[in-house]
Amino acid sequence: MIPKIFSWLAGFALVMIFLVAISPDLFRGYVFSEDDRSNGQRVYDTYCTGCHGPGGLGNGPASDFLNPLPRNFVDGDYKFFHFGEAPPLPSDESLELTVRNGLPGSSMPAFPLITEQELVDVIAYIKNFRAGGWVEPKPIQAGEQPIQVQGESGEDLFVSAGCTGCHQFDAAGATGGVGPGLNDVGSRLSEEEIHQSIVDPNAVVAENCPAGPCPPGVMPQNYSERLSEEQINTLAAYLAEQQ
Ligand code: HEC
Ligand code: HEC
Repeated sequence: MIPKIFSWLAGFALVMIFLVAISPDLFRGYVFSEDDRSNGQRVYDTYCTGCHGPGGLGNGPASDFLNPLPRNFVDGDYKFFHFGEAPPLPSDESLELTVRNGLPGSSMPAFPLITEQELVDVIAYIKNFRAGGWVEPKPIQAGEQPIQVQGESGEDLFVSAGCTGCHQFDAAGATGGVGPGLNDVGSRLSEEEIHQSIVDPNAVVAENCPAGPCPPGVMPQNYSERLSEEQINTLAAYLAEQQ
């Protein structure tokens, strides 16, 4: 009788090991609920709670040692709006970029290896912490007249066009960590190539970004509408001088 139970258990264990080995996702889907929140909670409890705290208050055990403090998701101010959406709350796309790439200059790590589904789930989960409920930011209207960038010198244009948000560039005090650092871009790219990077960023996608391979389609695609031809030439010439 007893040996029979053991052999049954051993058989069951083998089947489980086999399942995990051939299909971790299937196994996870089976053991963990498909529901957004509980899956999000699992990701959160695994990767985020140590800093952001079990209730999302930014007070996890590691937070005592951190400056800046981890974001308080309940009633803290969000700071990162990568797609020009209006504060106070970022779009899902912005949150995805923040979590995938991390925030250089703080302890917020990059999470390049979680799956797309885990990313979506954990974002649904942190939005749920918001006191008073989460209010989606207004979508940036397609077809709306894009706002013209103001500025004349290369440095002014770099700042007012928002390049600072994504690129490290010491001459303008920019610490962005989404795209490649541009301190010596002139030694990598010709003026024509820089020009093309600004007006048609997907024509050639750079390889190495601070958090790993560069994501295509993240650099805004509409600078040729927001900057005049003269402004683009000034900016490209200025960057080409940075060797
Ligand atoms: C080692 C500590 C640490 C871990 C782990 C961590 N974070 Fe953070 N996180 C931070 C810090 C610190 C900041 C604030 C950075 C700042 O203010 O510049 C932050 C900021 C953020 C923001 C920025 C919100 C905004 O726009 O202001 C988001 C979103 C976020 N974290 C999500 C997550 C998620 C999701 C996880 C888990 C997958 C996670 N974090 C894991 C430390 C951490
Ligand atoms: C929302 C983030 C974001 C903003 C804003 C942004 N970029 Fe980028 N940029 C990227 C990313 C990501 C890449 C790498 C992928 C690619 O090549 O498209 C990149 C690539 C580049 C490259 C090519 C670098 C190389 O090493 O090949 C140049 C040059 C550049 N950006 C200049 C600019 C300038 C100038 C502005 C402002 C007018 C700007 N970027 C605004 C994200 C951004």
